[in-house]
Amino acid sequence: MNETNSLKEQYRDGTNLEARIALHARFSTARQGFHQWLFAHIDVPHDARILELGCGTGQLWRTLGARVPRTWRLVLTDMSFGMVSSPDLSGLAPAGPSGLTQCDAQAIPFADESFDAVIANHMLYHVPDSPSALREIRRVLIGGGRLYAATNGAGHMHELDQFAVALGIDYRAPNLSFRLENGAELLAPYFQSVMRHDFADSLVVSEAQPLVAYILSMRSAMTGLSDEQLQRIRALVCERIALEGAMRITKETGLFVARK
Ligand SMILES: C[S@@+](CC[C@H](N)C(=O)[O-])C[C@H]1O[C@@H](n2cnc3c(N)ncnc32)[C@H](O)[C@@H]1O
Repeated sequence: MNETNSLKEQYRDGTNLEARIALHARFSTARQGFHQWLFAHIDVPHDARILELGCGTGQLWRTLGARVPRTWRLVLTDMSFGMVSSPDLSGLAPAGPSGLTQCDAQAIPFADESFDAVIANHMLYHVPDSPSALREIRRVLIGGGRLYAATNGAGHMHELDQFAVALGIDYRAPNLSFRLENGAELLAPYFQSVMRHDFADSLVVSEAQPLVAYILSMRSAMTGLSDEQLQRIRALVCERIALEGAMRITKETGLFVARK
């Protein structure tokens, strides 16, 4: 399967993403949730027009709920039709170009300078031509408008690689094209200023099943696993958690705020 098809398969609908969100929601150690932390960084006028690219299951807005000012005009978009047609999103914005619509970040179907802010969380590393996406984001932002782009660091959840190594699978965690370490450099040519904010967090996972579900949700990155290998992953995770009571997993996550 080539990269475009495996991305389509991975995000055909919200199932894989939900397994990953569930693990973080249950076992993160940070006292404040990531989305609440991110929300505190958003600085926009009270009647802001906000475009989200790669909104996935709309988790940001579902978590924030009533904290989101009613005066904000949200346009939620994702390249995956399955995501934008999910019932989870229908309560967040009306269907159609001014609310909820399918959109590739490399060709944004909105007029120049039509948004106060663009949000692109954990998605720029999926975009094959990120310079095109960054040019498009700059184009649709007003002067002084901001891009909020969350991403991970190179060592994010690196402990999971050991399961692949133990199985003798040639699998390395995908090298994220847009990550904490290089994001500022990639954004700099398109924006006046770029700030990086890191979110301190980790996972302490005390139940095997949610972690196995997480690993299996990444299966498109681990193509060709046999049923026997999948059983072995289950056994290894159970063993590890039974032995130590919980598995500690590193998180490296943060946010870039880039001003046009
Ligand atoms: C890891 S998920 C993140 C979802 C959401 N932003 C979140 O943080 O929960 C990545 C999302 O980006 C979308 N995506 C991937 N490539 C894209 C592109 N070129 N343009 C727009 N969305 C894209 C996927 O369909 C998927 O929903």
